[in-house]
Amino acid sequence: MRSPDPGTGAAPAGDLAAEVARARWYHGMTLPGGVVTPGDYDLEDTARRIPLPDSLAGKRCLDVGTRDGFWAFEMERRGAAEVVGIDVEDPGLLDFPLPRPAIEGESRENLDRRNLAFAVAHRALGSRVERRLISVYDITPEEVGEFDFAFIGTILLHLRNPVDALAAVRGVLRRDGRLMSNDGISVPLTLLRRGEPAAEVVMQPGRPFWYLPNLAGRRRMVEAAGFQVECAGGPYLMRYGAGWQHPAARVTPRQPGIMLQRLVLRRGAPHSWVIAHPHPQAP
Ligand SMILES: C[S@@+](CC[C@H](N)C(=O)[O-])C[C@H]1O[C@@H](n2cnc3c(N)ncnc32)[C@H](O)[C@@H]1O
Repeated sequence: MRSPDPGTGAAPAGDLAAEVARARWYHGMTLPGGVVTPGDYDLEDTARRIPLPDSLAGKRCLDVGTRDGFWAFEMERRGAAEVVGIDVEDPGLLDFPLPRPAIEGESRENLDRRNLAFAVAHRALGSRVERRLISVYDITPEEVGEFDFAFIGTILLHLRNPVDALAAVRGVLRRDGRLMSNDGISVPLTLLRRGEPAAEVVMQPGRPFWYLPNLAGRRRMVEAAGFQVECAGGPYLMRYGAGWQHPAARVTPRQPGIMLQRLVLRRGAPHSWVIAHPHPQAP
């Protein structure tokens, strides 16, 4: 076994490739030595599509549902003074709609492979990101402190109470802090009911989503959680990564815009983003 890089403590590329192969990746990202993780989604492509601030110099940042840590590491790379990534490890804490996806019955070995991904990337990047196991619903300033910037990505669609989750994030943001939400969206409702808040009620086998709002609906959710929206964009496609194995276009004839959905889902997952700050009159 070769020695770790003295500068970063990261494993040499050969060892790193072997470690990467042992983990289960959701985030496709490039680690030192050009080792690319076989994630379900290509997060580097996504980072070019959304306006995450170029500089987060000196900011204390929160990454909600950090998973393999891509966004936390990206905030660190953009100068954040401190980054905390939160997640839940116990599949029982994921409030996916019934029927629950396979994750509930996943073996300990598979769960360990999921957790390993963050650990491998963290070490390879020589990161100082702190990963905390706490549900977004439970974050308070006492538990996690206060933040200047919070990123919440691809999680609201999985949550029973997305507005409560956003409100909890607002509760740990400084008054002059900023939120960036980047989440799944309904393309047909965004195109067909432009400007009018609406959402698909999903909750069906193979699609562990509660609600897929259109862009106006996502904005409305953020506002309902006590934020003032500064700007928003999308839909755009979060492109599948090298690890994507599931059959695309898992849609049923009852969904609106079926042909459009099929076409879109073949290439990636439709997302939109919103940037907001705490409403001055919010409690
Ligand atoms: C679909 S992944 C998205 C990962 C990453 N945020 C992104 O934007 O690519 C959802 C993540 O949210 C986490 N998660 C689900 N419920 C959560 C909760 N209540 N509190 C914190 N994290 C949660 C999951 O464990 C998973 O890591």
